[in-house]
Amino acid sequence: MTKIKNALVTGGAGFIGSNLVDALLEQGTHVKVLDNLSTGHIRNLDHVIADIQFIEGDIRDLATLENLAQGCDVVFQQAAVVSVPLTVEDPIFSAQVNDIGTLNVLDAAQKANVKRVVLASSCAVYGDDPALPKTDGMPIKPQTPYAIQKYTNELNAGIYASLYNLETVCLRYFNVFGPRQDPSSPYSGVISIFMNKALNKEKPVIFGDGTQFRDFVFVKDVVNANLLSAMAKTPENQVLNIGTGHSITVNDLWASISTLAGCSIEPQYELPRAGDIFGSLADISRAQEMINYNPTYAFDDGLQLTYEWYR
Ligand code: NAD
Ligand code: UD1
Repeated sequence: MTKIKNALVTGGAGFIGSNLVDALLEQGTHVKVLDNLSTGHIRNLDHVIADIQFIEGDIRDLATLENLAQGCDVVFQQAAVVSVPLTVEDPIFSAQVNDIGTLNVLDAAQKANVKRVVLASSCAVYGDDPALPKTDGMPIKPQTPYAIQKYTNELNAGIYASLYNLETVCLRYFNVFGPRQDPSSPYSGVISIFMNKALNKEKPVIFGDGTQFRDFVFVKDVVNANLLSAMAKTPENQVLNIGTGHSITVNDLWASISTLAGCSIEPQYELPRAGDIFGSLADISRAQEMINYNPTYAFDDGLQLTYEWYR
């Protein structure tokens, strides 16, 4: 596919989804957004609301999806219960959204003759396996309902590709950061929390000794991975890591953010968070090979852009 003419973005009022909507509009795609605004915000779409078709609705509603999928070349499935603790608290509800809702998206897309569905998966599927970097072929070890649900999505995507002739690409995002990431929950991404703390000149909490590390990927690179996945010539079903292949410790992260904000606040160290993994790092070579994905934002540049947005 050279150009995406019509796309549906589920979860398009969220952090990643709304950045994806912007990029699709920039390339002239006609965009429909389905979002129930449970964790997303209409303010994320205010600036483009006249240019898109926004539907407040739920991916658990198959009829709505069947209707919206009509005429689309690609569906980007971003909608989910994204809080891991919430999936632990309520595995049934989260499975209804993450498992059945995603199945609805695949089914509606297939029935409407959509060419391809690009799905948001997660590096959570690797669990706490200490092997690094995470290669997309290594054994998975889901340890939470969230991770099981994401893995189930990948398996269902494979089934829809092999049995129902629907092309699917599942992207295992690593730790995504950037403008519009909501810092309001204690389970929000650490970068959004640290940005808020630095700007308010408050002490951040570092769980553990801060030497744990993550592969933080800037949201615009994740958006680009989605566009490439939609357009690249690929086999009928793909599962790809989307990170950067580099990592940074939580201590260094706070140091960088406090430098940006011009503050010198010592963090408060607390016990490691239960269930935390120590390190995470993506091997992105398959994504490079299959969809020509190459992250273009150096970590410091992404952090600077993110800081400007929070400020
Ligand atoms: P987000 O909460 O900002 O976006 C999720 C969106 O889905 C929200 O707008 C929410 O309102 C919507 N939504 C939730 N349930 C819905 C439902 N039943 N019907 C319709 N819409 C619904 O979170 P995000 O970080 O932008 O996450 C986007 C996707 O990326 C999710 O699938 C998430 O699991 C995945 N992911 C994110 C990260 C990360 O670091 N942010 C990492 C791995 C995977
Ligand atoms: C992320 C995902 C999670 C997924 C997991 C898979 C987010 C928000 N969470 O969790 O969905 O299951 O990857 O590997 O993207 N930290 C602090 N202080 C804070 C907040 C966090 O020290 O105020 C630390 C955490 O203890 C952790 C690190 O920062 O060691 C990153 O935390 P977080 O942003 O929540 O992401 P993950 O734990 O990697």
